[in-house]
Amino acid sequence: MSEKQKFYITTPIYYPSDNLHIGHSYCSTAADTMARFKKQTGYDVYFLTGTDEHGQKIERKAHDAGVTPKEYVDKIVAGIKDLWKLMDVEYNDFIRTTDERHVKCVQKIFKKLHDQGDIYKSEYEGWYCTPCESFWTELQLKDGCCPDCGRPVEKTREESYFFKLSKYQDWLIQYIEDHPDFIQPPSRTAEMLNNFLRPGLQDLCVSRTSLKWGIPVEFDPKHTVYVWVDALSNYITALGYDSEDDSLYKKYWPADIHLVGKEIVRFHTIIWPIMLHALGQPLPKQVFGHGWLVIGGGKMSQSKGNVVDPVKLCERYSSDAVRYFLMREMPFGSDGEFTNEALIKRINADLANDLGNLVSRSVAMIEKYFGGVVPAPAEYTDVDKSLIDLAQNVWQSVEKSMNALQFSSALTEIWKLIGECNRYIDLTTPWILAKNEADRPRLGTVMYVLAECARIVAVLIAPTMPRTPERIFEQIGVTDEAKKTWDSIKTFGGLEPGSVVHKGEALFPRLDIAKELEAFEAERQAAIAAAQKKEEIPAPADEEKTVFTQRDLIQFEDFEKIQLVVAKVLACEKVPKADKLLKSTLKVGDTERVVVSGIAKFYTPEEMVGKKVVLLANLAPRKIRGVESHGMLLCAANADDSKLSLLTVDSDMEDGCEIG
Ligand code: ME8
Ligand code: MG
Repeated sequence: MSEKQKFYITTPIYYPSDNLHIGHSYCSTAADTMARFKKQTGYDVYFLTGTDEHGQKIERKAHDAGVTPKEYVDKIVAGIKDLWKLMDVEYNDFIRTTDERHVKCVQKIFKKLHDQGDIYKSEYEGWYCTPCESFWTELQLKDGCCPDCGRPVEKTREESYFFKLSKYQDWLIQYIEDHPDFIQPPSRTAEMLNNFLRPGLQDLCVSRTSLKWGIPVEFDPKHTVYVWVDALSNYITALGYDSEDDSLYKKYWPADIHLVGKEIVRFHTIIWPIMLHALGQPLPKQVFGHGWLVIGGGKMSQSKGNVVDPVKLCERYSSDAVRYFLMREMPFGSDGEFTNEALIKRINADLANDLGNLVSRSVAMIEKYFGGVVPAPAEYTDVDKSLIDLAQNVWQSVEKSMNALQFSSALTEIWKLIGECNRYIDLTTPWILAKNEADRPRLGTVMYVLAECARIVAVLIAPTMPRTPERIFEQIGVTDEAKKTWDSIKTFGGLEPGSVVHKGEALFPRLDIAKELEAFEAERQAAIAAAQKKEEIPAPADEEKTVFTQRDLIQFEDFEKIQLVVAKVLACEKVPKADKLLKSTLKVGDTERVVVSGIAKFYTPEEMVGKKVVLLANLAPRKIRGVESHGMLLCAANADDSKLSLLTVDSDMEDGCEIG
């Protein structure tokens, strides 16, 4: 037997924050799904995750909590590990930047780069944003504030070590141009080249004297290694790079995929490759930048009570359901909105209905018509053959999508098969076949095809939903481990006739949407109340970043799809029993239309009449409180919706004019 090919995948190391939210789970779930898929398809997989524990922010929080930084992070790290356990995130190793193995190795790396002249001592002058732990040059500031979070920055000047990024800039540009797969999705390659590399790299400040909670520079201990040299090294320190035992490093490096959020692609595709190259080490094969899970239009904060807690979701709906939703709902690479409603709808439609029904109906019919024993198929008809063809070939498209980290497409392919199975039941009408003794062989064939398809589906969903397959195997009577493998689904017919089915609980019970949403609302209110009681300062550092998430770049054609026009408010009234809503009748050229907007707290109906407003005209119509609303009025609003201003145009612009 040939040796297995290796596959090394990593998540970023997480900042220990007391409220890991569903966005963090997103990255880990994706990495775990990929790791499981690679294992399933025969790879020797190594999956690394961990925590990024140094820095001033941690130091300060620990101080506020009256504990040492190490005590502070220990507790949070334990919680993070619990979360991964709950979500079935099965890593091979968990690296902490406070681990001795990491500290020692980073010191060696720093020294090596210094000895060979790539790190040099100089003086740093710049602007520092404490919450973001970022230095900015004068030019990078936005209105004098941090370009990332918008908060004030402090001018600092101190002795620092610098890493010669500039020396390697041309090499890196060439490397990226020669390796188009290095940065994924491809749009991020252009962003890195055009926005950062081609304009020119500045040398990077890699030590601080003002920072104490971090790794001391061994040969100059008043300096502490600063941020990225510490954090990025984790991917190799965990493998024992440059240590007594570097067998893992020899085996698994270079990484096959670094999975990271889009805001840190820059560090992983500029600083990290240059570090590795300077150390004479090979580069990771790919850095994949995934999008953001946006909640409630952006911001997650305790004070708003809209932090989505993955623990609660998993406890309420099962980790498999949550994992399925995360991987299915949005294309990997793009941003996506998380809503409770979307989650519940997915669970009902895809899991309770499509998947759940396929399994429960098949098992129930085999019990009823064949005493619970899977019958042997007779001759296959054309209807059978077309389903069989799909079932035994679907692994190919799934494999292709999974290898490209297109989790959503892979699941869509699998659900196509599930949909076809359910249609097959309607088409073959087993309950009619059951009435006629002469149709028994035909009925047996139909039952066999269904049970075998359920087996195939169970194998296919395993990377995303690690718990559900066993429940399906149990119900359809698959006990042989060889019939649970990826290879076993490449030919139809693996399920043994004679297997005994066991009717079990519904895989995913159907949820009452209204009831679930009520429960979420009650929880939200409770969270708000709790936050107010604690008089928490709203939106601390890290969370606020979510608000300012830059959306993915769009092309001009995308923008052109949006139709903005000037509209004149002819009439306006309050929507009964909805204190936030106004219903406006608009004139747009020679047409009229009605739009409902949530602006009643800021404008009276009287004020509205006569205004020339900006209308998003081609938004699909939607019923709001029983009123059909066609379009949307553009407004500016601040993060907590305490201020709002309608966009208007000068009154001599005629309604109907296009804006763009
Ligand atoms: O950046 N949606 O750590 P981190 C999707 N320590 N992904 C999200 C998200 C959301 N709403 N919120 C966070 C760091 N993430 C550094 C990394 S690596 C050498 C050092 C993702 O805890 C985020 O994009 O702030 C990132 O990939 C990961 O969680 C860790 O973020
Ligand atoms: Mg971050």
